Order: sequence, then structure tokens, then C-alpha cells
Amino acid sequence: MGFYGEQILPRVVDKLLGNREFAKVRKEACAGLHGDVVEIGFGSGLNVPFLPDAVTGVWAVEPSSVAWKLAAPRVAQARVPLHQAGLDGARLDLPDARFDAALSTMTLCTIPDVDGALHEIRRVLKPGAEFHFAEHGHAPDNRVARRQDRFNGVQNRIAGGCNLNRDITALLTAAGFVVDPIRNFYLKGPKPLGYMYVGRARNP
Ligand SMILES: C[S@@+](CC[C@H](N)C(=O)[O-])C[C@H]1O[C@@H](n2cnc3c(N)ncnc32)[C@H](O)[C@@H]1O
Repeated sequence: MGFYGEQILPRVVDKLLGNREFAKVRKEACAGLHGDVVEIGFGSGLNVPFLPDAVTGVWAVEPSSVAWKLAAPRVAQARVPLHQAGLDGARLDLPDARFDAALSTMTLCTIPDVDGALHEIRRVLKPGAEFHFAEHGHAPDNRVARRQDRFNGVQNRIAGGCNLNRDITALLTAAGFVVDPIRNFYLKGPKPLGYMYVGRARNP
């Protein structure tokens, strides 16, 4: 990754995903989290203020050192212990059936080996535990979906490997999760960027 990906992009993401509209989505995704939680793609810690009191600790997986620097003030103010827990969601150095919940926001679009990451999340979750997610991806409207496919390569290059067209429900189901509930909607702004999947996926 070059200077843009390492230094600029995490700062851009911190600003773009730190707005009020996303705050509502984060609140929805974090509601009901409890116990020890593993978060994939911790980024600059924008979910930290939304962690419910019932959370006892967060194990945060994040490859970007700049994102960690940006996260420092939020980590310092966190009410719960935060542990740096590795660099790659697809290779978790964490024990089987260890966590009460998992969290990911706007990250499944970017992880290169997304199937591997979902497999790992299931492995570290206790049976019956839930993966809370808020992700963007493949839209059901043909016109939007065609634009997502057309611009996916550009998005990949300018947004650090982000894909516009991953079908999050299909990926979760293929990984063996039971997806329920789920809420799909468009964010304000360009539709190809903003078709959302917000919900929970249970590790059966
Ligand atoms: C669009 S950002 C979202 C950050 C944060 N989840 C949020 O909601 O603000 C995607 C994040 O995924 C991280 N990421 C990229 N590849 C990853 C991987 N293999 N495992 C875990 N995180 C990864 C990036 O460094 C980046 O912080």
C-alpha cells in the first residue's frame, strides 16, 4: 500500500464515516452488544462511543497503524478495556468459542478474503452468539447493481480495496450464519455506494 492508502485514506474514512447519518447506523449496530466482543476492522474507533454498558471488553482487529493513531482519543475515553487483537480478520489469533458477540461496520466490503473472515468470526463466537453488522453492498435494483459492477474496479483502487457489489446476506448465509433480523435501505447520496445491510447474524 502506498502513501495514499496508508496515510490519507484512513483520515478520509474517519471523516466520511464519522457523520451523523452513520452515527445512527452505528447506534443500531451496537445495540444489544454484551460481554466480550471481537470487532473486525476497528478503524479509527468510531463505534466506541456506541458500546452499551453490558460490553465487558473489545478485541479489535485492524491493520492500519494510522487508524489506530486516529482512534487513540476514543480508546482513551472508552469505558471498557480495548485490546489490539491482530491485523487480519481472516486470520484471528483468538481461541475457538471465546466471544459473546462480534461487530463489523463498513468492513466486509474491504477484507480481501471475506469468506475466510466470516469463517473466523463464526469460529471465535460462542454457539448461539450474534455477529452485529452494518455494511454496504450489492443493491437489489438492477440499474443500481449494474452501476455497482461497472464502478467496482475504480472504487477498489480509490477506496483501499472496497467493493460496491458484495451481497452481504448471501455471504453470511454461505458462511453458516442465520441472518435475523436484517434491515436494508439506501443511505443519502449516490445509491451505488449506499445500499445498507444492518442486522444480526447468529452462529447456530
Ligand atoms: C471503511 S473502513 C471502516 C472502519 C470502521 N469499521 C468504521 O466503521 O468506521 C474499513 C476498515 O477495514 C480495515 N481492514 C482492511 N482489511 C482488513 C482485514 N483483512 N482485516 C480487518 N480489517 C481490515 C481497514 O483498515 C479499515 O479500517
